[in-house]
Amino acid sequence: MEQTVSVDKIVEMTGDLPPMPNVAAKVMEMMANPMTDGRSMQKFISTDQALASKILKIANSALYSFSRDITSLSHAISIIGFNTITSLVIASSTKNAFFKGKMGLQDKMIWEHSLASAFGCRMLAKSALGAGKTEEAFLCGLLHDIGKVILSRKLGDSYSAIVQEAYNTKASFFELEQKTFGFTHSEVGSLVAKKWKLPAVIEECIEFHHKPEEAQNAKVIVQIVTALNHICSKVGYGLVVDKDIELMEIEIIQKFFNNENTLNDFIEKLVATVEEQKRLFE
Ligand SMILES: [Fe+2]
Ligand SMILES: [Fe+2]
Repeated sequence: MEQTVSVDKIVEMTGDLPPMPNVAAKVMEMMANPMTDGRSMQKFISTDQALASKILKIANSALYSFSRDITSLSHAISIIGFNTITSLVIASSTKNAFFKGKMGLQDKMIWEHSLASAFGCRMLAKSALGAGKTEEAFLCGLLHDIGKVILSRKLGDSYSAIVQEAYNTKASFFELEQKTFGFTHSEVGSLVAKKWKLPAVIEECIEFHHKPEEAQNAKVIVQIVTALNHICSKVGYGLVVDKDIELMEIEIIQKFFNNENTLNDFIEKLVATVEEQKRLFE
């Protein structure tokens, strides 16, 4: 029987788990309130000049603006929508909180993986679950490896050592974590999700993205996150890279893609999006 790792053991090794970034916490709280509308979100974003100008910059990118000139937050919200603006604010504040200052290579790879997963999950959710689920999927992709962010920051060199070992030996990163520390980034991530009171669907993605068969209420969205993990490792976004992987042989990929052509079109669009968007988040 699988052993449940103790919270104490993780906290003993990593120190206290960090709080949710302030801006993200406030926006999540606003999202959960049915009275929140575009106007209140706009008011909140305007109180932070740096955030407001970053959101405008992103809103004016090719992905959202379709060559329209977006000059104000209210315009941005009316063009790209309240939910998408909300995801962008959370992505931007998460990036600022966890990847401050000059990023090392390992941080860069984790951030790039989170961003690629977020955009990829949004794209895949649109076709698999419909337009209403796209932003939920974006946040699931963005936050699914939050445990890695924490472990990389807290454990430093001993985490880098297993990144290196996984790279050299092609061993499963997830299993190496388990063997070396006695717990994985999924377990650390799900403690963080509980501490931050993240929505249940995000918590499930964090907990089960390496064993999607165990997902309970959010099976499809967890499978989408798992699919993006395989795609990212093929493309080279993240700590786990396997360029030789045959994606179409993986069952979960077959579930979302009929053939190699649709998969390749998806990858091409994803890479173009990530390459454009990652510059805007800097
Ligand atoms: Fe993961
Ligand atoms: Fe991942």
